[in-house]
Amino acid sequence: MPEISAVILAAGEGKRMQSSLPKVLHPLCGVPMIDHVLKACEGLKAKNTFVVASKKGGEVARYLKGRPKINIVYQKKPLGTAHSVQSCAAALKKFKGYVVILYGDDPLLTPKTLKKFAGQVFEKRAILGFITAILPNPFGLGRIVRNPLGDVERVVEEKEATEEIKQIQEINTGVYCVESEWLFKTLKTFTPHPITKEYYLTDIVEAAIRDGKKVLGYVGENPDEFWGINNRKELARGEEIVRHRLMDTWFQKGVIFVDPRHVYLDAAVSIGPGTVIYPQVFLRGKTVLGKSCVVDCGSVLKDMTVGNHVSIKPYSVLEESVIEDEAQVGPFARIRPGSRVGKKARVGNFVELKKTRLKAGVKANHLTYLGDAVVGEGANIGCGTITCNYDGVKKYQTKIGKKVFVGSDVSLIAPVKVGDGAYIAAGSTITENVPSGALAIARGRQANKKGWAVNKSKLQKSKSKTGSKSQ
Ligand code: UD1
Ligand code: CA
Repeated sequence: MPEISAVILAAGEGKRMQSSLPKVLHPLCGVPMIDHVLKACEGLKAKNTFVVASKKGGEVARYLKGRPKINIVYQKKPLGTAHSVQSCAAALKKFKGYVVILYGDDPLLTPKTLKKFAGQVFEKRAILGFITAILPNPFGLGRIVRNPLGDVERVVEEKEATEEIKQIQEINTGVYCVESEWLFKTLKTFTPHPITKEYYLTDIVEAAIRDGKKVLGYVGENPDEFWGINNRKELARGEEIVRHRLMDTWFQKGVIFVDPRHVYLDAAVSIGPGTVIYPQVFLRGKTVLGKSCVVDCGSVLKDMTVGNHVSIKPYSVLEESVIEDEAQVGPFARIRPGSRVGKKARVGNFVELKKTRLKAGVKANHLTYLGDAVVGEGANIGCGTITCNYDGVKKYQTKIGKKVFVGSDVSLIAPVKVGDGAYIAAGSTITENVPSGALAIARGRQANKKGWAVNKSKLQKSKSKTGSKSQ
């Protein structure tokens, strides 16, 4: 096997995306396009990987900075795909082997297909191989013109195609494997195309045939791997393809998606077997779900770590926190970053946590805000409890001990501590620490004024009579 260098083109302007973010940094399932392409390359075991970035924005270079084995090469001006490859000429001057060229906006290619394709190019001893695909709607892509014997002749871009060529459904996917020395020698001879004033990499096909070299037009099997992404609509379609691939992998590992058409998950998500995901669930970032959990409809989890046998009931929004085994969360729970819900704990309806640790078995079942709090094992937090953790300038902690019973409608003015086993009476506003085992009552005393309402109505009636006379 000859040595391989990979070259990924990512210096185009991406005008069709209508975005200030470089096209190749747009994410598909939470991961920028360029990373999908880099992943496809992994199986090649390339000696070097070059990413051609634009000097102008520098964002692609900044994004990839510090990655091992990735070299950034700059294309000074976006003068076309051939010009972009040429930017690597100096870096690859002494390289003897094949250059695999990929477009940074073709993120759907799989490592398996790329490896198989490169293998075929070497086996057939072609100087140039490129992947083609048959697409039902090839609009916008380079078309493959073959001679009557079926051999590839050239690639014609949509902009330059005659009506007859536009009918061709075989397209150029933008994946090439080319003998290095010949490639760079040939690129030097290219001239720009009159309509776009760009240098086209696709011209190497015709050049190889002119030089009498062997060319392999390798027809890719699965059209879903070969959609280039140039605009927002194609990005959405690409995301859908990646999402379904991810779900297929998780299905095979025993995950149950009740309706896979309506689940959205990122590439870095991990899900344990036996876990059930209902529709309209969003699993984002590096969310890890254990086994035999249920994530019910409408829930959104971002960078969450969830243990085993956890139940997340509908419409819960959870971020950057941990939920331990057998806990129950929701419906309508909100867990904000830095929280930890202990084993078998329960966070119920309309309960919000922020930087809060609930130890094992804690129950906070209804309408509660706990911020910057630590709640000890087995404590019960009554409905309507609020930690008043912010004085407008600073945040303060609330510490609630083991097996504390906090009655309903309690305000805890932080910083404050409640000792183990203490009780807090409903409706209390707690401003001072509560010792272990104590009962704290901090509310106005009730006074019942007998007959007050009857007297009040008599008084009102007599007033309204005198009032009407005087008119
Ligand atoms: C290209 C192919 C087309 C193919 C399609 C597949 C050419 C001339 N055309 O068209 O045959 O069907 O891809 O998706 O190659 N780039 C640079 N520098 C530049 C121009 C582009 O680095 O000066 C990079 C872009 O960032 C992009 C890639 O090259 O990642 C492809 O460029 P793009 O303009 O998207 O080409 P297409 O019109 O899609
Ligand atoms: Ca493209």
